[in-house]
Amino acid sequence: MSETSVRPSTLGDGDAPRTRVIALDGPAGTGKSTVSKALADRVGARVLDTGAMYRAATLAVLNAGVSLQDTPSIEDVVGRADIRLDITDDGCVTYLDGVDVSVAIRTDRVTNAVSAVSAVPAVRTKLVAVQRREAQGAFVVVEGRDIGTVVFPDADLKVFLTATPEARATRRHKQNLAAGRPSDYDDVLVSVNRRDHLDSTRAVSPLRPADDAVIVDTSDLTLDQVIDSLDGLVRDRIGVQS
Ligand code: DC
Repeated sequence: MSETSVRPSTLGDGDAPRTRVIALDGPAGTGKSTVSKALADRVGARVLDTGAMYRAATLAVLNAGVSLQDTPSIEDVVGRADIRLDITDDGCVTYLDGVDVSVAIRTDRVTNAVSAVSAVPAVRTKLVAVQRREAQGAFVVVEGRDIGTVVFPDADLKVFLTATPEARATRRHKQNLAAGRPSDYDDVLVSVNRRDHLDSTRAVSPLRPADDAVIVDTSDLTLDQVIDSLDGLVRDRIGVQS
């Protein structure tokens, strides 16, 4: 049985602290990262950014000079890569082979290659195992594409964020500019649509809402409105006073 088909329990195991997971999935630019952080702050959880892991795997592949069509070499490079997230109160620090790559993984070069690398089944199997290990015994908002469907199918709460492609491209464009990265709105829109298509049509763990996910369209909502709409759900399902 592959590791991705294991259904980990979110119930406590003996004396081990209970793992409590809020799965937050959705395509790029729906405000997922901002919502994850704000929600985690509100409820006293931490954020596990799984996209950062796929980006680190992609950086390893690019650094090795491997073609994105060469699946066996991708498997080999990612199989040997040491990818770790340090989950701090301020967010995740991403390490590739012991080096902090938190900034390097946000370049266009990585963004444009990440869908190809994350479509490789062996890459997903490896990173899903790391994600489950990192969340063990913790209270975490796990942000990604397949968290509610594959990684934590028994998550305490599953949220799927959506927004129009235009709203999402606008957000990404502004984020790029704010971070001092060069950005062109039309290029960002093309990239958002391209990545969505690749992520939602791939054979393994395609991007889709879990059947029991709460779907929130963030196109016309402020951050506070999104968080307020999730408030009651967190209280009901996890018993946390937010
Ligand atoms: O959230 P992000 O844009 O940093 O994610 C980068 C890419 O990683 C995204 O295009 C799809 C992939 N990804 C994935 O396949 N599964 C996840 N759980 C998270 C991200």
